[in-house]
Amino acid sequence: MDHFLYRNGILHAEDVAVPDIAAAVGTPFYVYSAATLTRHYHLFTEALSPLPHMVCFAIKSLSNVAVLKLLGDLGAGMDVVSGGEYRRARAAGVPGERIVFSGVGKTREEMRLALTGGIRQFNVESEPELRALSEVAVSLGFVAPITVRVNPDVDARTHEKIATGKKENKFGIPIARASEVYAEAASLPGIEVIGIDVHIGSQLTELEPFEQAYLKVADLTRRLRSEGHDIRRLDLGGGLGIPYTRSNEAPPLPTDYGALIKRTVGDLGCEVEIEPGRLISGNAGLLVAGVIYVKNGEGRDFLILDAAMNDLVRPSMYGAHHDIVPVVEAPAASPTHAYDVVGPVCETGDTFAKGRDLPLVAEGDLVAFRSAGAYGAVMASEYNTRPLVPEVLVKGDHFAVIRERPSFDEILNRDTIPAWL
Ligand code: LLP
Repeated sequence: MDHFLYRNGILHAEDVAVPDIAAAVGTPFYVYSAATLTRHYHLFTEALSPLPHMVCFAIKSLSNVAVLKLLGDLGAGMDVVSGGEYRRARAAGVPGERIVFSGVGKTREEMRLALTGGIRQFNVESEPELRALSEVAVSLGFVAPITVRVNPDVDARTHEKIATGKKENKFGIPIARASEVYAEAASLPGIEVIGIDVHIGSQLTELEPFEQAYLKVADLTRRLRSEGHDIRRLDLGGGLGIPYTRSNEAPPLPTDYGALIKRTVGDLGCEVEIEPGRLISGNAGLLVAGVIYVKNGEGRDFLILDAAMNDLVRPSMYGAHHDIVPVVEAPAASPTHAYDVVGPVCETGDTFAKGRDLPLVAEGDLVAFRSAGAYGAVMASEYNTRPLVPEVLVKGDHFAVIRERPSFDEILNRDTIPAWL
């Protein structure tokens, strides 16, 4: 459920008419709904209660500081994967004890940043990282709280580029080697073992792979405890999928996911952490674009938008589907037409959809991509020197630009010409 509905035939973001934002900001832009973000966060906290838990928003999915402040103020923790994301979480006012640091390539500098700024735990992904973290912690006079991310060799049955839990993926340590790695961790002076971490992939549309992974984590918890480790926190990762179409797609609900967590690891007496990104942010955002031209091609018509693959890369990168809707609703039973929906970037990959049935649209009309809140703005670039797409947050009848569109001067001034040229 989201808060982007038609009212009197005009698409609204909560109580704000989308054309009003377009008039103020220009197109293209992302718009997020505070009510949707809030609701989705609460779905998870409700699903996990009464287990002791923390919902750590995977800020890679949507990392604008205003959004992080909104979620942080609700009590959310944050899952970060870089020093930059750590800084964002802190800039949003989230205390270090609510920030978990994931990722396969944490640098020593990033470790120092998080140790000195405060951290809930590092999710360590390899033995070299464990040793480096211990060294850095000792040099600063800290002990780093850690989980080890285990790779359970489970098929998440999702897009190959976002599956992470198979043994051929770069993530985590093989679960079969966990005893060895935990023994080393426990022997290192700068490390305190507190738990286990697992994350098997993103946009999972079935619960069964989670179940397989969490049962393996439950077994591992018992084994590691018997080997003397005080396992008291389980980070179960993110990955719960969302519906990208309004048709019959029905991924499992957070309540079902919560019930599964309780069933698989609920009796271990551990604090549970999850790291959802997409389910919180995905359906909380639209990308709004204007139609530049409708071009009649040979056997197909192109809808050329002012948004492009640099603004929303998911269709060209993963073949992802996003529903596209007109901002001014077509009257019921009005004719539709099949369009190839494309952007202005100079490559054929800059295609959002092929043969997509849409109500008739004309130059100057506005269209909206649904489910664009997650992995949308964060993956945008300035390819073709197209300014980074702005972001807008709506709450009730308020809206504000939370990231401005840069001017061309700002963009050009970032480049410098060496004196010797
Ligand atoms: N935790 C870890 C360690 C992760 O790697 C990820 C996502 C998450 C949590 C959050 O997963 P979510 O709940 O959002 O599924 N750009 C791709 C998705 C990449 C996901 C990367 N890791 C896309 O647009 O589909």
